[in-house]
Amino acid sequence: MLQERIPDLSKCVEPDRVRREVYTDPEIFELEMQRIHEQVWIYCGHESQVPKAGDYYTVQIGRQPMLMVRGADGRISVLYNRCPHRGNMMCGDRHGNAGEFFRCSYHAWTFQHDGTLRSIPMMESGYAGTRYGRDNPDCSMKRAARVESYRGFVFASLAKDGPALTEFLGASRVAFDDMCDRAPAGQVEIVPNCFRVIQHSNWKIFLENQLDALHPSVVHQSTGRAAHEVEKQIEKRTGSAPLSYHMLSAFATVTIDKWDNFQTLNYPYGHCILTGYMGLRPKDPDTVAYEKTLIKAYGKQRTEEILAVNIHHVLIYPGLSVQSPLQQLRAVRPLGVDRTLTEIWHFRLKGAPEAIYRRSLAYYNLVNSPATLINADDLENFWKCHQGLASDGGDWVSFGRHHGRDIEKDGRVETAANCGTSEAPMRNQMKAWAQYMRA
Ligand code: FES
Ligand SMILES: [Fe+2]
Repeated sequence: MLQERIPDLSKCVEPDRVRREVYTDPEIFELEMQRIHEQVWIYCGHESQVPKAGDYYTVQIGRQPMLMVRGADGRISVLYNRCPHRGNMMCGDRHGNAGEFFRCSYHAWTFQHDGTLRSIPMMESGYAGTRYGRDNPDCSMKRAARVESYRGFVFASLAKDGPALTEFLGASRVAFDDMCDRAPAGQVEIVPNCFRVIQHSNWKIFLENQLDALHPSVVHQSTGRAAHEVEKQIEKRTGSAPLSYHMLSAFATVTIDKWDNFQTLNYPYGHCILTGYMGLRPKDPDTVAYEKTLIKAYGKQRTEEILAVNIHHVLIYPGLSVQSPLQQLRAVRPLGVDRTLTEIWHFRLKGAPEAIYRRSLAYYNLVNSPATLINADDLENFWKCHQGLASDGGDWVSFGRHHGRDIEKDGRVETAANCGTSEAPMRNQMKAWAQYMRA
């Protein structure tokens, strides 16, 4: 029993370090699913994934298999992927269209898109005088307690109480605002498939890496250096190299000391923003054409404001990592204490020229895809971290870098000047973790 082994979970988290069991104990993992992932707002998907009535997408929230579905009235519901009759999974495919209603493949109970029971074969003769029928809510598919969307990004919470979505997101809303505002039409559209990677490591290891500004110039140095070499050669030959080389060479040209110049901003609920570093505002003809479409849509001043938003990465704890200037996101779905699924998605800016989409696709393929060395180098470290933590070689994970130098201001914690490689984001995530786990 967890209670006997670890009577007080709060003792596992100190301001600058965390006990290793937090990453390796299966019972702590179960408790995390109950107290964190099955309580808070979890990203389900984008509205454009289910454009037509009956369109659905399956999604995992904590341990619960769920369905995000569009109704005939346009509304999106999030339902448990389970038939209330004998428990059959309602949709076995990852996504599809249910038609005018859901029909269980076992005994043909049917349900409206919002989960309400529609019919049971020979309902009158079969269930007259019983407690089963349309009046009994237990005969309908169960819904997520709360569903809300923000600028087209759909979230669900399996707990009926808690902060509203916008309150929960707080400053991290900038991830979605920045992404959508960069579209001349003010909206993005999902590219309807994603990479799925199963990592053999605890879910928190992935999240902690997202805003770990110390690791890129170590882990991704070899890739960055090779890209930089080629970039220089092309530049010498032709005068300029394609932007895609810069996406990789930045890992070498932004050296370890430069990372300290950036800043992380840490917020309640474990969210965190890393300011920008890639300077993706080149002067190539594609970018110039794109900026013209923005000016047409928003005017010069607003366009400048939009393009001046200087963030590289927004982490929305406990399950989402967004790179808005490049229209990417990664959703984290914990599968077990040492197994984590990440879904890697990218988006089109509505109304932007095709070349701007190709830029997003290039970043998706070169940096975030499982086929790139960048991703592979990270995955190897995640796996090795988990292996090390599962050993008796030490009891603590240290988050002490620049500890004590954080600046608390207006409810957020900023890293001080020249402390960009601070482990403040990890401290902030574990602070939120401890608060959730105490609840
Ligand atoms: S299990 Fe779904 S209708 Fe019987
Ligand atoms: Fe990395």
